[in-house]
Amino acid sequence: MIDNRAGALPVEGVPTERVLDEIRGLRGLDRPTHGGRLFAYVYDPGVPGLDELAHAAYAGSAHVNGLDPTAFPSLLAMENALVGAAARLLGGGPGTSAPDAVGSVTSGGTESLILAVKAARDARPEIAEPRIVVPVSGHAAFAKAAHYLRVALDPVAVDPATLRPTVADVAAAIRPETVLVACSAPSYAHGVVDPVAEIAAVAAAAGVRCHVDACFGGWTLPWLRRLGAPVPPFDFAVDGVTSISVDLHKYAYAPKGVSVLLHRDPGLRASQYFAYADWPGYTMVNPVIASTRSGGPIAAAYATLRHLGEDGYLRLAALTRDAVAGLADAVRGVDGLRLMAEPESSVVCFTSTDPGLDLFVLVDELTARGWHTQPQLTYAGLPASVHLTVTAAVAPRVAEFGPDLADAVAAARPAGPVQLPPELLALAGSLTPEALTPELIAGLAAGLGLGGGAGPLPDRMAMVNTLLNVAPVRLRERLLVEFVGLLQRPTW
Ligand SMILES: Cc1ncc(COP(=O)(O)O)c(C=O)c1O
Repeated sequence: MIDNRAGALPVEGVPTERVLDEIRGLRGLDRPTHGGRLFAYVYDPGVPGLDELAHAAYAGSAHVNGLDPTAFPSLLAMENALVGAAARLLGGGPGTSAPDAVGSVTSGGTESLILAVKAARDARPEIAEPRIVVPVSGHAAFAKAAHYLRVALDPVAVDPATLRPTVADVAAAIRPETVLVACSAPSYAHGVVDPVAEIAAVAAAAGVRCHVDACFGGWTLPWLRRLGAPVPPFDFAVDGVTSISVDLHKYAYAPKGVSVLLHRDPGLRASQYFAYADWPGYTMVNPVIASTRSGGPIAAAYATLRHLGEDGYLRLAALTRDAVAGLADAVRGVDGLRLMAEPESSVVCFTSTDPGLDLFVLVDELTARGWHTQPQLTYAGLPASVHLTVTAAVAPRVAEFGPDLADAVAAARPAGPVQLPPELLALAGSLTPEALTPELIAGLAAGLGLGGGAGPLPDRMAMVNTLLNVAPVRLRERLLVEFVGLLQRPTW
């Protein structure tokens, strides 16, 4: 008897309905993507019918290839329309101070940032050892870009009170080899907007490009401003801003796989492209990292923007703003919790002021009550915190959050801070990444309940988070690589 359930490639093909059933079964293991109780990874507007529209648009273009815009002008048209919409929203286009703004659709924020760094690096071929200046609150994708592109990263500390870099520190970090200065609008971790105008001014004075990472906030801040929020200038309206990234798969509520990288003018974009004619196959020209690109995400994003329109996004931004205010009030109402920053956008981030209240235990208690939040580890003098990415779908749930938060805190307090077994604690404090052996990793993973018989992850993650929290940064990275490597094993 052939078991057709096992493996992606059964000997005999499986009928349509059964395949879909299997996938539905697997999806049942996931965190809920809808319902307003997930505060990371997924951006849900809670708009009835929008998923169906996006899926239909996606399906209709899934097999179209963005590799060659002359063969598939439908994709070129939709991509140009998305770039135009993003540029217009962010201070570019006819009648603005950036009338010649151009851009590309990429697969996500990380790709947009890698390409912003590549464009900046390749525009300065005379610099043998290029460098970029990035506040430590900048997204980790800048570090990834630096690593992939062999560009040196000059991190700038943030003030623990404001969670922003000072302009003086940014200016001091700029060197003759600096090709790009970055800032965030807002930062992912804490949701604060950097002093973009001042940073762009010091970059311009040094003759260096300035990229604004608005991957997270580029599609919320403009609507919040129109609703009356005091949003500081952060886009092409600011002289000296040379490029901006904005992710449509975040607050434009498009399905995954779409970000836009904008440049103030075509001259700044030229070094982003890669062209190659020195082989016997088709001459290749790629504006982005991927060569073959599915039209699915582009068509789905186009459909989403067309359907929601400016009035839809304004309405969703108002819902999000109110949800943020309600969640922040809930946090303020609990003794022992403190907001890391007054919310300026769509993030609520809080920390514990009570040594007896362990945030990692609290996160587990919230998960047990159906709220999926994101723990953030202590870093460079900043305390551990809990991050909530707030989307419009959260609005109807806000009233339930406060009592559940209070209840979760009441449960976390008597549980007390996580006590790591002393030998694990000693190990985390003394181990260097180089000293990690496969046996040590396996022992650690088993001790933490990772990859065991019950499933890949333990129900409660407080022990894992506590271990990572006490480990130095490089050891954290290495442990994560090893733990994820344990999860990523083929099924046969
Ligand atoms: C500010 C910021 N930049 C970049 C990224 C990376 O985006 P992606 O996960 O789409 O690669 C994120 C993701 O959360 C972000 O918040």
